[in-house]
Amino acid sequence: MLAVAVLAAGKGTRMKSDLPKVLQPLAGATLVERVLSSCEQLSPERRLLIVGHQAERVQQSLARYEGLEFVLQQPQNGTGHAVQQLLEPLAGFTGELLVLNGDVPLLRPETLGQLLERHRASGAAVTLLTARLADPSGYGRVLAGDDGRVERIVEHRDCTEAQRQVNLINAGIYCFDWEKLAAVLPRLRSDNDQGELYLTDTVAMLSPAMHLEVADADEINGINDRLQLAQCEAVLQQRLREHWMREGVTFTDPASCTLSDGTRFGRDVVVEPQCHFRGSNEIGSGCRIGPGCLLENSQVGEGSQILHAVLREASVGPNAAVGPFTQLRPGARLAAGCHVGNFVEIKNSTLADGVKVNHLSYIGDADLGAAVNVGAGTITANYDGVRKHRTVIGAGSKTGANSVLVAPITLGANVTVGAGSTLTRDVPSGALALGRARQLVKENWTGPR
Ligand code: UD1
Ligand code: CA
Repeated sequence: MLAVAVLAAGKGTRMKSDLPKVLQPLAGATLVERVLSSCEQLSPERRLLIVGHQAERVQQSLARYEGLEFVLQQPQNGTGHAVQQLLEPLAGFTGELLVLNGDVPLLRPETLGQLLERHRASGAAVTLLTARLADPSGYGRVLAGDDGRVERIVEHRDCTEAQRQVNLINAGIYCFDWEKLAAVLPRLRSDNDQGELYLTDTVAMLSPAMHLEVADADEINGINDRLQLAQCEAVLQQRLREHWMREGVTFTDPASCTLSDGTRFGRDVVVEPQCHFRGSNEIGSGCRIGPGCLLENSQVGEGSQILHAVLREASVGPNAAVGPFTQLRPGARLAAGCHVGNFVEIKNSTLADGVKVNHLSYIGDADLGAAVNVGAGTITANYDGVRKHRTVIGAGSKTGANSVLVAPITLGANVTVGAGSTLTRDVPSGALALGRARQLVKENWTGPR
C-alpha cells in the first residue's frame, strides 16, 4: 500500500505574503496543486495533506480533490512535527509513505515513480531524493557514502563550515517504510538552530537510508521566496514552450511568451513575440497569433490571425482576422471568416459567418447575422442604466458610420442604416433606416459681423 503526505502547514515567512506559500500561483496552478498532480500517476491508496497556517483557506482551495484527507498541524513546529501528526490517521497502515514538500512543485511524475521503484527494490527503510547543486545554500546537506547510503542530513543553518561545502542536497522528497518511520518519529528532538522538530533527523535513525540523485536538478527546486518562485516559473515556461515547439508550433521569440498547462495548439501555428496564454485555450492549426496578444480560456479556429488583441472567454471561428487593438470579452462568439478590427470591443455577442466590424465599435449583447457589415463607430447602446438589452441585426445588413442602436432593438435582414443614425425602433427587412436631423443648408450665408 502507498500513502502520500504533502507538507503544507508552514507559513512561508520568506515569501512576505498574506497568501499561504503553498497557494502561490505558478503558471496558473498553485504550488500545492502542482505537488498533488505530480503524484497522481502513482494512484496512492491514501492522500493526506498537512495543513496549519491558514488551514481553512488551503483546504477550501482544494475542495475539488476527492478523497484528500486534511490533517491539522497546530502549531507548526517543524517538518518532523508535521509528520508526527500522521501517527493517528495512519495508525495500523502498512506500506510506504511518500512525503512531499508542498513547496517543491516541479517534480516529474516519472521521478517519483523511480524513487518508489528504487526504494522497493533496495528494501531500504527510507530513500530520499537528492541533487548536486552548484549553489547548495539554503538546503539541507546530505552526508552520504559512495554506496548511496545516507548517514544523516544537516540543515544549512546547523552546518559547520566544512559541511557547507557539501553540494549534495536534500530535495525534501522521501519514501519511508511507514512502520519504521512511525517507530522513530516520537524520538525527534528540537536541539537545532530553529528549535523545531526536523523530519530530516529521522534519516539518521533509520537503516539503511538510501538516496537517489535526480538527473535534472531543476525538478527539485524548492520555493521559499519570490526569487525562487520566478525561477520555477521560468523553468515551467521553458518546459511548456519546448513541448509545443516539438509539436510543431513556431515561436519567433519564445522567451517573450508565456503559456499555461491548459493551452493546446494545432500544427503550424506561429506565435509571434509577446503573446500570453492563460487558463485553457485551444488554438487551431495554421493560426498566426501575435505579436502582443493575451488569450485566456479562449478558442481560435484554424487559419485565423490574431494581432495585438485581448481575448477572454471568447471564441473565434476559422479563417478569421482579429485586431490590431481588439478586445473580445466573455461571451464573444465569432463564426468563420469574421473580421474584427482596430479599437473594437465585443462582449456577450454572436457574430455569424463573415461579419465585419472593422473600426471603432462597441458590440455588446448582440446577435449579428451572416455577412453583416458594421460601419465605423457603430455602437450598441445595451444598457439603460438598470438592465442590459439585446440588439439583433439580420443577415446582410449594413450600419452606416457612427450609428447608435438603442437596445432592445431588432433590425431585419438586408437593412441599411444611414450614417449618424440613432435608432430606437425595430426596422423591417430590406428597409433603409435614418434617424438623424435633416441636413439644413443656408445659401449665401454671411454670418454675424
Ligand atoms: C526543508 C528540509 C531541507 C530541504 C528542503 C528542500 C527540513 C528540516 N528541511 O527545508 O533539508 O533541503 O526542505 O526544499 O525538513 N511545513 C509544515 N509544517 C511545519 C514546517 C514546514 O507543514 O511545521 C511544510 C512547509 O509548508 C513546506 C515544507 O514543509 O511546504 C518545507 O518546509 P520549509 O520550512 O520550507 O523547509 P526548508 O527550510 O525549505
Ligand atoms: Ca522549503
